[in-house]
Amino acid sequence: MNRRSVLFGTVAMYAARMPMARASQPSTYEEAVHLVWRPLDPARGARELVRAATLAANSHNTQPWRFILSDNVITIRPDLARRCPVVDPDDHHLFASLGCAAENIVQAAPMLGLNANVAVDTANPGSVSIALDRTAPSRHALADAIMQRQCTRAKYDGRAVSSEDLRTVETAGALGGVECFIVTERSRMEAILDYVIQGNTMQMRDPAFMAELISWIRFNDSVAIERLDGLAARSSGNPALPAWLARRLLKFALTEKGENDKYAEHVRSSAGIAVFISPRNDKAGWVAAGRAYQRFALQATMLGIRNALLNQPVEVSSLRPQIADYLGLGVRRPDLIVRFGRGASLPPSLRRPVTAVIDAS
Ligand SMILES: Cc1cc2nc3c(=O)[nH]c(=O)nc-3n(C[C@H](O)[C@H](O)[C@H](O)COP(=O)(O)O)c2cc1C
Repeated sequence: MNRRSVLFGTVAMYAARMPMARASQPSTYEEAVHLVWRPLDPARGARELVRAATLAANSHNTQPWRFILSDNVITIRPDLARRCPVVDPDDHHLFASLGCAAENIVQAAPMLGLNANVAVDTANPGSVSIALDRTAPSRHALADAIMQRQCTRAKYDGRAVSSEDLRTVETAGALGGVECFIVTERSRMEAILDYVIQGNTMQMRDPAFMAELISWIRFNDSVAIERLDGLAARSSGNPALPAWLARRLLKFALTEKGENDKYAEHVRSSAGIAVFISPRNDKAGWVAAGRAYQRFALQATMLGIRNALLNQPVEVSSLRPQIADYLGLGVRRPDLIVRFGRGASLPPSLRRPVTAVIDAS
């Protein structure tokens, strides 16, 4: 069996046997969730690895990726039509999102009897390639978490995480030279919260930031199901409302004080904050930071620990050096800021199907 048939043979067999497996349009949010987050099926071959990749964390859930399947390589290219030029002018988050997607492939590949090796092409526009080699089929310890992981933007229960679990998630998040810097001391968490609040205030006062954010909010189920991307009201812990009503209520619901109070409650109910710092500040470093964060999130999920990002201080360029200085990072760029703790889950976010993100090779 050559490499092409390793990747695609099983897909063809499966498709021939199961013509009904093609996804139909879901009619409720729950149906969409069921379809998007159904268990991985190794019999579907490499396309199932692409599906695993699309389930990764990604900025604003823009799903800024295109996948190309060739003989023994999956290439992830940035989808520049889905970039967020205001919040992410240098595409840092976009490439971190590609890193998150690549990490899910790394974790899922052994299920298909494949070993994944990630390389980054930093030449414009940049891409991530994942070379797949045959190995004995096995189940990677973190693969099961791919379907359960979510960014849980809710209040947690305030309980501490044991030092053993802290060590486990810290080790998972220290991948490829990326430092996973964990803060659990309350006074230091309060100091980071101050930066989050400063950043949030600056962002909410910026009409361009707000316009970009609102363009990715999916205010109700029917829009969320139709678009299968963006920030669904439900998965952000908000009620789903008709779009016209939601837009009118926005100025009352999305206030600076309301949001800042929410972030304070979120941080104070968390067990700790993890900061991811890549050794290099370029596309390869941003992909590495995304991979490390995704692995941290998968490991946390396995331990029943939730997480959510608090990136305002690394997104607002005037605050980034200040928080780097506070954390003692010197000239290194803090890539991602994540709170973690235990608590209930929220409804999962949605994803576009694999057919919408694969390009011909
Ligand atoms: C690079 C990156 C930056 C992100 N920044 C934020 C953020 O600042 N605030 C936030 O609430 N979520 C942030 N997220 C989380 C995404 O919004 C989330 O992954 C996406 O909506 C999909 O939801 P899910 O992870 O629950 O599947 C970020 C994710 C990534 C990968």
